Amino acid sequence: MRALITGINGFVGRYLAEYLLAKNIEVYGTYFGDMNEDELSEVNLLRMDISNQYEVDKVIKKIQPNYVFHLAAQSSASISWKEPKKTIEVNVNGTLNLLESIRQLDNKCRILLIGSSEEYGFVNLEDIPVNEEQSLKPGNPYAVSKIAQSMIGQVYARAYNMDVIIVKAFNHIGPKQSPTFVVSDFSKRIAEIEKGKIPPVLKVGNLEAERDFTDVRDIVRAYYEIILKGKKGEVYNVGSGNSYKIQEILDTLLSLAKINIKVEKDPNRMRPSDIPIIRCDHSKVIDITEWKPEYKIEKTLSDVLNYWRQTV
Ligand code: GDD
Repeated sequence: MRALITGINGFVGRYLAEYLLAKNIEVYGTYFGDMNEDELSEVNLLRMDISNQYEVDKVIKKIQPNYVFHLAAQSSASISWKEPKKTIEVNVNGTLNLLESIRQLDNKCRILLIGSSEEYGFVNLEDIPVNEEQSLKPGNPYAVSKIAQSMIGQVYARAYNMDVIIVKAFNHIGPKQSPTFVVSDFSKRIAEIEKGKIPPVLKVGNLEAERDFTDVRDIVRAYYEIILKGKKGEVYNVGSGNSYKIQEILDTLLSLAKINIKVEKDPNRMRPSDIPIIRCDHSKVIDITEWKPEYKIEKTLSDVLNYWRQTV
């Protein structure tokens, strides 16, 4: 089995690479931007800009993968408000570049496209937890880009008989995630406060939002199971099935902090729109695989905080 991970230098890419390597799979990975090549020494690394068709063609022709995990993306809903065009360019045209390259291949290749729970967006309360049949009511440019990605994937599966599977991943967290995302963001600043690097005030955004958080180490197991056992053209939700208000996440992190920290609302951290609640119905993936989430939220939160304590 020859697996290619696009965006291997991202948060999930590194964990997925380690998971596949432990299964003795030959792993290739593309990166763009910063990458310490010593970090994943057993992976065959290639630099590739997913927005550049020529570069994508070259990599796909060279590797001829059997499995592709497409992780390369602009993955932040928050950043998509500041960079909507770049988000669409990378997430939609990038996926099209990949699908077009793979379409030219002779060998059989299975592709896992990673979409987002943000695609469901403003779901009615009576439809929580959301299943894959839910209609899509996106709340930000990132969500729109992922809807376009998922739909083009399904169109290519139907029209060209390509072996494309779509995941809609709910929030995932863990050590080494970028501090753009809420758990890493809070944890990094708590660690900096503990070390006296910044004043003991934690500025926060919307604490009322409720999200389904899954440990990244559970997420990569699900991706592997789905690429092996999923059905062509189908969509699979991946999430823990439990949701927490951001306030609860904050309270848990603060209870782990070594000193008292004052919390302050910061209007600059509020988004133009933020979906109020999302929780995953994962029964479809549970039905076709052996997967179930194993990490408890408390363990993940404390791992993330400890990671930042060692890092800042
Ligand atoms: N980052 C951040 N910083 N978020 C905050 C803060 C803060 O200080 N205060 C409150 N929040 C709230 C956000 O408003 C949002 O409701 C929630 O915390 C989670 O924000 P993020 O961690 O930035 O993630 P996201 O939900 O926008 O997107 C993540 O999940 C998606 C799946 O639902 C990303 O991982 C996406 O790639 C993923 O598709």
